[in-house]
Amino acid sequence: MSDGVTIRRMTEADLGRVYALEKVSHPVPWSQASLQRSFADHHSFVLIKQQQIVGFAFVQKILDEAHLLDIVIDPVQRGHGLGRYFLRELIEREFCDGINIWFLEVRASNEAAIALYQSLDFNELGVRRNYYDTPTGREDAVMMAYTVS
Ligand SMILES: CC(C)(COP(=O)(O)OP(=O)(O)OC[C@H]1O[C@@H](n2cnc3c(N)ncnc32)[C@H](O)[C@@H]1OP(=O)(O)O)[C@@H](O)C(=O)NCCC(=O)NCCS
Repeated sequence: MSDGVTIRRMTEADLGRVYALEKVSHPVPWSQASLQRSFADHHSFVLIKQQQIVGFAFVQKILDEAHLLDIVIDPVQRGHGLGRYFLRELIEREFCDGINIWFLEVRASNEAAIALYQSLDFNELGVRRNYYDTPTGREDAVMMAYTVS
């Protein structure tokens, strides 16, 4: 990808910017404490464009399985291929050593994310009923997986 877009591991100093992006990206965003816990417990990455953090991702790794816990692109940067670039790089380069399968859950209403995952050959495994909080109730999760070839 052009424009000097790079990926690096998240550091604690990034968490302020990461929280700011999280808050404008999900109907029920993670709290600062949840982000801090995920940062401590899992693998985390930031996407940098022109020296600014324009995306982040959290990944849980258990043996040969990776679970994508969250991926976000800055709202003003969406729709230009950054999300696909970021996730593809995580799968193919940054993280793939020893990983045989990727899992994720996504809100059933999140058409953009579902289309992104489908474009990277994630397959739907099933639905978890009423898995997510919404501002007004509950929402199903679509479970998806990608097998590393
Ligand atoms: C989901 C998200 C990460 C996608 O990032 P992005 O940089 O906008 O995605 P890209 O530009 O790389 O798009 C890749 C593909 O995703 C799909 N897509 C992206 N935005 C879409 C939209 N608004 N509507 C439908 N499909 C969309 C398309 O298939 C697109 O491929 P195409 O451009 O060839 O048609 C971004 O929308 C986001 O941060 N959303 C809020 C956080 C979120 O919901 N994260 C997922 C949690 S499970």
